[in-house]
Amino acid sequence: MLLYQLEKRIVAAKAAESVNEMDEKKKVMLSGIKPSGDLTLGSYLGAIKNWAERAETFDCYYFMADLHALTTRQNPADLRRRTLEQLAQYVACGLDPEKNTLFIQSHVPEHAQLGWVLQCYTMFGELSRMTQFKDKSAKNADNINGGLFAYPSLMAADILLYQPDYVPVGDDQKQHVELTRDIAHRFNGVYGDVFKIPEPYIPKVGARIMDLLDPASKMSKSDDIGNGRICLMDQPQDIMRKFKRAVTDSDTGDHCVRYDRENKPGVANLMQIYASCTGRSFDAIEAEFTGHGYGDFKAAVGEAVVETLRPIREEAARLMKDKGYLENLCRTGAEKASYIAMKTLRKVYKKVGLVPKA
Ligand code: TRP
Repeated sequence: MLLYQLEKRIVAAKAAESVNEMDEKKKVMLSGIKPSGDLTLGSYLGAIKNWAERAETFDCYYFMADLHALTTRQNPADLRRRTLEQLAQYVACGLDPEKNTLFIQSHVPEHAQLGWVLQCYTMFGELSRMTQFKDKSAKNADNINGGLFAYPSLMAADILLYQPDYVPVGDDQKQHVELTRDIAHRFNGVYGDVFKIPEPYIPKVGARIMDLLDPASKMSKSDDIGNGRICLMDQPQDIMRKFKRAVTDSDTGDHCVRYDRENKPGVANLMQIYASCTGRSFDAIEAEFTGHGYGDFKAAVGEAVVETLRPIREEAARLMKDKGYLENLCRTGAEKASYIAMKTLRKVYKKVGLVPKA
């Protein structure tokens, strides 16, 4: 009788322990951002702003996809600056490097190494069907290089190295995550369960911010100096100038500031920006600007953005000057990432039949 009770207690304790372990094991999330353009207000309000609190629920990896940036021609000095600046901006936006793994892709050579192997498990037809490849080849007709074509295999490697549960991506990258899943399935089909099959993760929160001069298209990070685009490092006077020029419509009444995405896309976008920066509702904003014209409204939105970005810009600029801090950040991030990446790569090399290094 006594023995039976003891056994029962042991079984219960073991069960509790494994539940605890499961609780503690956070789901893994990974995302990469190509440093081919400066981060914008759209990147911040639409995504980065919500990343900080994610670290409580997920084990997060964010990396600067500098190898991916090479698929289009880059000015070397600009690429270097942007890569570091992006890292500094993430930290300035509230991503805690102690709670997240932040690193530069090229500092973890396993990306390129697994990328090669996975190219051998990606079909020519699959790569040819990628919409991003088709778009980019049309835009860069004089530089349709092998890297641009094989980009999705490298992206699959970025992801699969860390065995993540989720990959948060925008719509434009969903096709790449689908292909990653296909590659992982194909590989696992031949060699057993090597890769976890990741899910694309579409965040629930996050505003979609449009271009100030062309509210039909997304505010995108790109190389050219766009007046429809606010960059995180823009100076206050430039922000104010860009908002002054923002497209609205020819409405003049007392209620011209009202939310109507369909018919008043420019105003709706400005309201969205103002709402995201101040936390006010659309109703409250409409009430605030009843009887005011677009001039007042645009100036108010500009000021709200200036104040939202000021601490980020100042902190990022401070970090950019602190080379020691940045180097240390890069090193520890890459070390943490390598630890996981090496394990996966070693397993893959072994499975496909490469001779282990003595
Ligand atoms: N392709 C992504 C972009 O253009 C960047 C990227 C590279 C990425 N590797 C990734 C995103 C892995 C998510 C996961 O923005």
